[in-house]
Amino acid sequence: MEKLLIKGGKPLHGKVKVSGAKNAVLPIIIAALLAKTPSTFDDVPLLEDVRAISEVLKCLGVKVDDSVSHTLVVDSSNITDCEPPYELVSAMRASFLVLGPLLARKGKARISMPGGCAIGARPIDIHLKAFEALGVKIEQGHGYIVATAPNGIKGATVYFDFPSVGATEHVMMLASLAEGKTVLENVAQEPEIVDLANYLNKMGAKVRGAGTPVIKIEGVSELHGAEYTIIPDRIEAGTYMIAAAMTGGDVLIENVLPEHQKPLTAKLREAGAVVEEDVDRIHVVGSGKLKAVDIKTLPYPGFPTDMQAQMMAMLVVAEGNSKVTETVFENRFMHVNELIRMGAKITTEGRSASIEGPAQLTGCFVRCTDLRAGAAMILAGLVAEGQTEIGDLHHIDRGYENIVEKLTGLGADIERIENENV
Ligand code: EPU
Repeated sequence: MEKLLIKGGKPLHGKVKVSGAKNAVLPIIIAALLAKTPSTFDDVPLLEDVRAISEVLKCLGVKVDDSVSHTLVVDSSNITDCEPPYELVSAMRASFLVLGPLLARKGKARISMPGGCAIGARPIDIHLKAFEALGVKIEQGHGYIVATAPNGIKGATVYFDFPSVGATEHVMMLASLAEGKTVLENVAQEPEIVDLANYLNKMGAKVRGAGTPVIKIEGVSELHGAEYTIIPDRIEAGTYMIAAAMTGGDVLIENVLPEHQKPLTAKLREAGAVVEEDVDRIHVVGSGKLKAVDIKTLPYPGFPTDMQAQMMAMLVVAEGNSKVTETVFENRFMHVNELIRMGAKITTEGRSASIEGPAQLTGCFVRCTDLRAGAAMILAGLVAEGQTEIGDLHHIDRGYENIVEKLTGLGADIERIENENV
């Protein structure tokens, strides 16, 4: 087991380059299953989740070549298995999205039901309801889902009860190879949905309206591989924006799309940080004294749930009382207790947290309870008095490429060491 050691109190300065987006690359690699010829992806982040999804695909007979750094070649010409192994699927929820592409290519797929996770129950009812509307027969039992399409996959109009990111991606993939037209209403509008739609269209699909609440898909009989570059990771970029603001630093964030950061940019400015946008760069200067702000997580273009924990770490040291409301996941406050151990003054009631600031955080041993909670611990460590030790780093490795190197490059005192005690 390893841990991070952070000595807090250093304002961050310099430039940092953002990697490709985890939540874009995962569904896109899975969508490569739909094609009979290979796809090549560029700006693929070096992350544990990317490695895990590659393993899932390999078990299905897909050839995955990662010999060139940040490039991935996925060749699904020969799918030999329609049932990804339980151990791999249970380790990463996004792998559930292979169900649709496998069904579209092979006419049948079997997958273990994804369970809940640290941040919530995370059901799959929206995925399954939409699949059934497209003519898919779903059988559930003994922890597995078996999907078949005895009469083919047929286009349909489907209204989503909630704009689920994963369900929007999953049904977009399936409908691309369906017979006829599909209309998806009240869908997710996240930039990652647009990225997937762009890749599908490069493969020969006919997807229109991605990034709006209604997506229309004209099914085609076959898709081919394509070359595609993944968009920058807006959550990684946002984490560095907060790091700059919180430490009273001055950081230029490169390879970022400022329009994707709008909800965060608005809140950082409201809190008193200076945020300047360029075409593909954002410059953040911390004023030294941040003010309390309220945030409420919502589907895009609302404030992202994936930035909630990091924002809370910042609000703990901001002047005044803030309120954080989490509306997307029912249990995404696992970082609260860890922050309290560092000296934060936070009380929670249901899906809301009240923060009394500013608190002087003091370093201690804390754990990453999920990926973004882990990022929040690092941010808190950067401003805490003394040394913060962070354990359970596997969560961070899922979604932040080279975070220690990137923060060190900005002047942080952070190192990763073997930990015999955890
Ligand atoms: N939901 C349902 N039924 C469904 C699907 C979702 O009730 O059939 C609920 C979930 O339980 C949750 C809410 O809808 O409460 C949102 O879930 P959604 O399906 O939108 O999320 P997801 O596709 O499972 C992706 C990201 C998450 C991110 C969410 C929300 C990937 C691989 N994961 O998850 O990323 O938080 O969208 O933006 O794209 C992270 O990166 O840390 C992370 C958790």
